[in-house]
Formats: sequence, C-alpha cells, structure tokens
Amino acid sequence: MAVAGCGSREERWSLAGATALVTGGSKGIGHAIVEELAGFGARVHTCSRNAAELEECRRRWEEKNLRVTVSVCDVSVRAQREKLMETVRQTFDGKLDILVNNAGQLLFKPAAECTAEDFSNLMTTNLEASFHLSQLARPLLIHASIAGGGSIINVSSIGGSIAFAGSTVYAITKGALSQLTRNLATEWAPNKIRVNGVAPGFVTTDMIKDVDPEYMKQENSKTPLGRSGKPVEIASAVSFLCMPAASYITGQGGDVEPGRRHRARHRRQQRDRTCHRGGAC
Ligand SMILES: NC(=O)c1ccc[n+]([C@@H]2O[C@H](COP(=O)([O-])OP(=O)(O)OC[C@H]3O[C@@H](n4cnc5c(N)ncnc54)[C@H](OP(=O)(O)O)[C@@H]3O)[C@@H](O)[C@H]2O)c1
Repeated sequence: MAVAGCGSREERWSLAGATALVTGGSKGIGHAIVEELAGFGARVHTCSRNAAELEECRRRWEEKNLRVTVSVCDVSVRAQREKLMETVRQTFDGKLDILVNNAGQLLFKPAAECTAEDFSNLMTTNLEASFHLSQLARPLLIHASIAGGGSIINVSSIGGSIAFAGSTVYAITKGALSQLTRNLATEWAPNKIRVNGVAPGFVTTDMIKDVDPEYMKQENSKTPLGRSGKPVEIASAVSFLCMPAASYITGQGGDVEPGRRHRARHRRQQRDRTCHRGGAC
C-alpha cells in the first residue's frame, strides 16, 4: 500500500486490502457505506439488531461479489459491543483499518415530554456506543496497514450544530459526537489514527420516512440544492475520508448537506444591504 501522501493515483483512491467495521449496515446510510467501502476493495464487517435482515443483506452482497461478513449486535449494550469487536478481531486477524460509527436512532419529541428512558436510550445508542467502540477498536487500528493510518468516521448530523425544534435529545448526542471526533483526532494522531465525522442533512432513509412531507419540502427549500440527500451521497464522502487520498485530514466534522448555512448567510447579507440602503430590516 502507498505511503501517506505518496503513491500512485490508483493507490491513493483505493481501499484494496483494507478492513472495515460499519455499525448499522442493514439499512439506509450504513448499507450504502458498506457497499461503497467494499466496492473500493475493502473487506467489511457490519452489524444491526435484526438477524434475518442482516442475513438477507449478506446474501445480496455475496451475489455482488462484495466481501462482507455480518453479526448481530445491539450497540447500546456494552457486552454486545465487546463481543462485536472480538468477532472483528478474529475475522480480520487482529488488524482493522476503518471504524464507521453509523448506527443511530432519531427521536422527534418535544424536550418537555422526553422521559429519562428516552434520554438514556439515545445517549447510549448514538454517543456512548461510538465512544466505547472507538476505545475497543484502537488497539486494532494501531495495526492498520492503509496509507495515512487507521480511520474512525463518526456519522453525526447537521442537527448537532443547527437547532431543529422537537429533536433536542438527538441533537445533544450528535453535537457531542462531533466534539468526540475533534478530541479523539487530537489524542490519537500520534497513534496514526485519523478521526473524522460526516454531518448529513436530510437523507432519504427509513429514519425520516414518517416526517411530514410538507415540513421536508419547507426545510429543503431553505437550502441552495433544495433536496434531500441519497444514502450513497453520504457513503461517497465517508469513503473519501477513509482513503489514503485523505491522509492529511483529521478532526473534521464535514457537513454533507445542500448548503443550508450558506443560504442563511446569503439571506443575512441581502437583509443587511437592504438596511444600508435605508429599507425596512
Ligand atoms: N437519514 C437522515 O436524514 C440522517 C441525517 C443525519 C444523520 N443521520 C445519521 O445517519 C446514521 C444512519 O441513519 P439512517 O438514516 O441510515 O437510519 P436507518 O435507515 O434507520 O438505519 C439505521 C441502521 O442502524 C441500525 N441500528 C439502529 N439502532 C441500532 C442499535 N442499537 N444497534 C445496532 N444497530 C442499530 C439499524 O438496524 P436495526 O434497527 O435493525 O438494528 C439500521 O441498520 C444515524 O447515525 C443517523 O443519526 C441520518
């Protein structure tokens, strides 16, 4: 494999020979990430809580000649996370190049109505699992053979830095996940482990299938591209961040969304210009 920052273009944009663990790969964004990483040549292990669904995915990936193994794991349970990492260690002979902390759950509920159980379930699934899996993966990532070192990708959300009413607990978990990205990137750079995040906007998956279409339309209209994303559009960004091509990138929490912040800035600039000209503001 290429040395960081060197190597041919083919080597820099390839994951041939790499090994990866992607949590929550049976559906949505995780499913697309598994296919994209495996398509670039990585051997991938993935998990979710539903054995039948996982087996169906595994069968379809085998038909496509993608090298993917699966096991059941509820990432909110500490003992199951430990068992998952032991499976990964055995499957990949003690070496891991990539960990993608993708499994997550959304809760749309006014903050005043959230129970202690809601809070604890989301914190454990979306945040604690990513922290603990990163700890467990560290000894394997240190042996990564991919140029640029091992990689952790945390799938955060634009909701972790912009406030949407009704998703306070989810937002707290994603905001903290982005901070986890920055801190681990700083602590583990000497171990040649890069840690980055992706923060998607709305992506068409089961997670948002019950969101009111009118609300979605309104939210999308606030962005320059004006539409929701597709899972593969997030998977492309994740794959890039894991490649030797991204060997100089760590601690970043990249928004992967249709330009919401810039549209807001553009509106503010327009309003300020109106004010300067003496118009109503
Ligand atoms: N869709 C969006 O608009 C959007 C936007 C920003 C960020 N994100 C983030 O992207 C990630 C993936 O979301 P998605 O939209 O692809 O959701 P999804 O379609 O609901 O898929 C979630 C995946 O995670 C698994 N999962 C959920 N809880 C789990 C647990 N406790 N243990 C193990 N696996 C679990 C699910 O399988 P089982 O349920 O069978 O376990 C499934 O494979 C999440 O972290 C989410 O917060 C999504």
